[in-house]
Parts: sequence; structure tokens; C-alpha cells
Amino acid sequence: MAPDRIILGIESSCDDTAVALVRARPGEPVGEILASEVTGQDALHRLYGGVVPEIAARAHAERLDAVTAQALDRAGLSLAEVDAVAVTAGPGLIGGVLAGVMFAKGLAAARGLPLWGVNHLAGHALTPRLTDPVAFPYLLLLVSGGHCQFLAVEGPESFRRLGGTIDDAAGEAFDKVAKLLGLAQPGGPAVEVAATGDPARFGFPRPLLDRDGCDLSFSGLKTAVRRARDKLIAAQGGLSRVDIADLCAGFQAAVAETLAEKTRRALAAFPTATLAVAGGVAANRAIRDALASVATEGGAAFLAPPLRLCTDNGAMIAWAAAERMATGTPDGFALEARPRWPLDATAAPLLGAGRKGAKA
Ligand code: KG4
Ligand code: ZN
Repeated sequence: MAPDRIILGIESSCDDTAVALVRARPGEPVGEILASEVTGQDALHRLYGGVVPEIAARAHAERLDAVTAQALDRAGLSLAEVDAVAVTAGPGLIGGVLAGVMFAKGLAAARGLPLWGVNHLAGHALTPRLTDPVAFPYLLLLVSGGHCQFLAVEGPESFRRLGGTIDDAAGEAFDKVAKLLGLAQPGGPAVEVAATGDPARFGFPRPLLDRDGCDLSFSGLKTAVRRARDKLIAAQGGLSRVDIADLCAGFQAAVAETLAEKTRRALAAFPTATLAVAGGVAANRAIRDALASVATEGGAAFLAPPLRLCTDNGAMIAWAAAERMATGTPDGFALEARPRWPLDATAAPLLGAGRKGAKA
């Protein structure tokens, strides 16, 4: 039997510089995370109201060595004990992806290690198997600030996109709504805390429910929130605490209900034993509860990995490489950084990009 492998995973496709060490045991269904370090860049981008690609790339280039040293230290390992290097090779902000790929190539060359280029979305999509013995196939809803799509995960390199957002990602909509209402960024947690009011007061739309299939759209919903806000401000000169609570509750309920209904359809189109979620929006209690009920209704188990693994991290990148090791071959030094890299090359391109860079 093949020996255990220790994989160093590097993620730098957006605004988190992340490095992890994961042990994969042949025959074991799950991985062991030895260390997973994530250094965010919120403070660097806050002034600009969004991620600035050039600033992100520089910060990754400056920090990758220190974050890697930190991860090795946390795991109590030296580079000599690492068996393979895995790195996000796309999709994402090209400067950051390049910084990661170049750094990974340097490490692999220096230590004579195999180099694996990983699709960031494959990392998210395979995360449920990092922590739980989930069998293929399963349905994954990836719902974050940059991604929002349903994936049928059929194998380590076999993904079918069943639907996705045609404009904003759900997290992006939360962030924009927070901005509209003067709440803190990232907007998701701020909107969730504020969403204590009457969800029915404004009658916000449930986007695309009238259209078959499981594509999503959040841009119109965000506009509806803006209109309601502007009307209140015009009528009364500002927003009361109750207005904000009602606006947030209405928006959150619309997102939760829409995601739930589209998930119901995705499960009907692709009936499987497990519905898994990944992405920062999965932290939202109302959304999580709505998705869990849809899973129960459809006879599927509901799996939400721990939040630190739902959001961008290096462990998912190491694990996605581990999943491929049984059958695939490493990429080697010809590996290229790809700003756009659809997981499912057969699916029609989605119209939407996201606040956080190029999407698949
Ligand atoms: O996965 P993630 O950390 O980063 C990427 O987008 O790749 O997701 C971050 C997104 C942000 O848009 C944030 O507002 C949203 O997830 N988010 C939430 C909550 N926590 C984070 N959205 C709704 N409710 C939350 N509790
Ligand atoms: Zn991500």
C-alpha cells in the first residue's frame, strides 16, 4: 500500500493568503489537517470598499513565505517532511494566483517535489470529503462572496454545474446591502445580526423562481432593497432602527427562500444521498436551516463543513490534490495560472462575475 503523504496546500486566488499541511492516508476516506493558516487582507482593502487586485497580489507575494513558515511551525514539520506541493492555479484574481503558482514552483523545485495545480472551485467542492466520509456523487451548493453555484460532484475531477448565479453571488449581495444600509463589512454577518425585523414589510422579490432550473440572480433583489431604502429616506429623511431591521430581515428571507427553492429543484434534478454546502454564506443560520430542511424533505443528509473550511483555505487545496493522486499525474513546471477556469467545461458560461474576481 502507498505510504501516507503530507501535502502542502497554497491558496492565494482572492484576498486570503492561506497555507495548510494535510496528511492523506491511502484507504482512509478523510484527511488529517496538520495545520491551516489563513491571513486575510480586510484591513488593506477596507478603504476602497472592495478587493483591489494589485494590492492583493502584492500582499500575497510578500506574505506567502511567512504564512508557509507559520504553517510548518504549527504542524511541527520541516519542508523535508513534505511530499507534494499543491497550489490554486485558478480561477481568481490573476496577480494573486500567479504569486501562489510562482511560490509553489519555487518550493517544488528547491525540494524536488511533485507540483499539483488545483482548481479553486474543486477545492471548495471536495471539502466535504476532507472532513467526512461522503461518497460520490453528492450535490454541493457553493455560496460565498465570489461564487454561487450548484455542482454535481461525481468524482475528484468530475463536476457538473447544474446552475448558478447569472449576476451577483449571494455573499456579494449581502455585502452590497450592508453597504446600502451603512452596516459593517463583510456585510453577511452584519445583515444577519440586524435582521430582527418583519421580513414581510417590503415584499421583496424571490428572483428567478418563475424560471425553470436552478439558476440564481441577486442583483434585482439588491436593487429592490435600494429602492425601498431611498423611498424611506425621501419620506422621512433617514432610516430608523426598525427600518433597518425590516429591510435586513426581508432581504435575508428572500435569499434564504430563493436558495432553498433552487436547492429543492437541484435535488430533484440530481437526487443524491448528500447535500453539502460550502462558502461563507453557509454561516448564515437562517440560510443553513432552510437548506437543512430542504435536504430532509428530499431524503438527503445535510453536510456543512466547519466554517473555517467553508471559506478560502489551503487545506481544501491540499485535499483536492490528494484526491487526484490515486489516479492522476502531477502538473509539473509547465503549470499555468488561469484567471478563468470553469470546473465544468461543458456548461454554458454564466453571465455573472463577482466582486472578488473572475468566476467560472
Ligand atoms: O467564502 P468566503 O469567505 O469568501 C469568498 O467569497 O471566497 O465568503 C465570504 C462571503 C462574504 O460575502 C460574506 O458577507 C458572506 O460570505 N458571509 C455571510 C455570513 N458570513 C459571511 N453571508 C450571510 N450571512 C453570514 N452570516
Ligand atoms: Zn473561494
